[in-house]
Amino acid sequence: MIVNEFIPKPYTQLLDRGAVAYSAPSNIALVKYWGKKAHQIPANPSISFTLNNCKTATSLRFEKKTSKGFSFEVFLDGKLQDDFKPKIEQFFSRIEVYVPFLSSYHFVIETSNTFPHSSGIASSASGMSALALCLMKIEQQLNPEISQAFFNKKASFLARLGSGSACRSIEGNLIVWGTHANIEGSSDLVGIKYPYEVHHKFKNYRDTILLVDKGEKQVSSTVGHNLMHDHPFAEQRFAQAHSNMEALIPVLESGDLKAFISIVEQEALTLHAMMMSSNPYFILMKPNTLEIINKLWAFRAKTGLHVCFTLDAGANVHVLFPDNEADEVQKFIATELAEHCQNGHYIEDKLGLGAEPIKI
Ligand code: PMV
Repeated sequence: MIVNEFIPKPYTQLLDRGAVAYSAPSNIALVKYWGKKAHQIPANPSISFTLNNCKTATSLRFEKKTSKGFSFEVFLDGKLQDDFKPKIEQFFSRIEVYVPFLSSYHFVIETSNTFPHSSGIASSASGMSALALCLMKIEQQLNPEISQAFFNKKASFLARLGSGSACRSIEGNLIVWGTHANIEGSSDLVGIKYPYEVHHKFKNYRDTILLVDKGEKQVSSTVGHNLMHDHPFAEQRFAQAHSNMEALIPVLESGDLKAFISIVEQEALTLHAMMMSSNPYFILMKPNTLEIINKLWAFRAKTGLHVCFTLDAGANVHVLFPDNEADEVQKFIATELAEHCQNGHYIEDKLGLGAEPIKI
């Protein structure tokens, strides 16, 4: 599958060397992407909040070379990270047709995350989008005419080929990825800014990430997505994602937080239900995940506050709440939930505006 729109015209000349840098945020899905087709095409549409504080900063130094093939070194926090190489090598080979200068340069990739690498927070979304943006920055230097809109669109397209959900980490603060009949402009190929009205209650929405398990992911997302291939409930799940996306449209417009909570929590638990009912099956929640969920439900029932949770493909819990309820919810997290986190660790985050260039 080749998408001609993203194949550049032959470059008139290549730079000999240079350096570019970008910082890109993580994102948290409200309606989850779980299951994909060939070429990183999602099995269903998804929508996410772009985060503000959990970010990856990546710099790319490049120098012309004459040898064939890809050549790069990758450093995390200043340390050579050879175990990142296969994923980047695979990413480069998927995108080379769209980024033909890839094999003309030797690259030094230096990357660091604002969240600890061993926090159980996946860095693939922020990492792949930061890398895609760096490559687009080079492309822009070779072809200064490209518009900002095309820059973001192609960065999202490239990032998706690195890690699906990375395509939702270019812009803020509510991003849709995957074609949905009632969301204008939605596409399987790129993330787009949510195109409809959003109530002010969602402004500065908070996400506090409770680090229940900082270990390596028990199931890689590649394995996880593949488990949807002959999953007995796959078709029902994909249909449910479409209807939850649809249901969210009036909820986002009206600021109906009760309805928002019910969609978001159902999505989180369905994602885990899919893992529990696949072959092979997995339980990615830990006892502390359930402790937190039960305490959160009791707190919500007692206070009437609009706090809810969502989960990624792991044990950590994202606690979502509106900005105007932050004082009470943060106190509750510190006094009641932190004890269920590994070493009491959690990260306070909120909605963000997307990736930013870094001066280098
Ligand atoms: O982008 P991937 O392949 O790591 O998949 C991410 C999948 C979930 O985080 C579980 C859901 C989502 O939509 O982000």
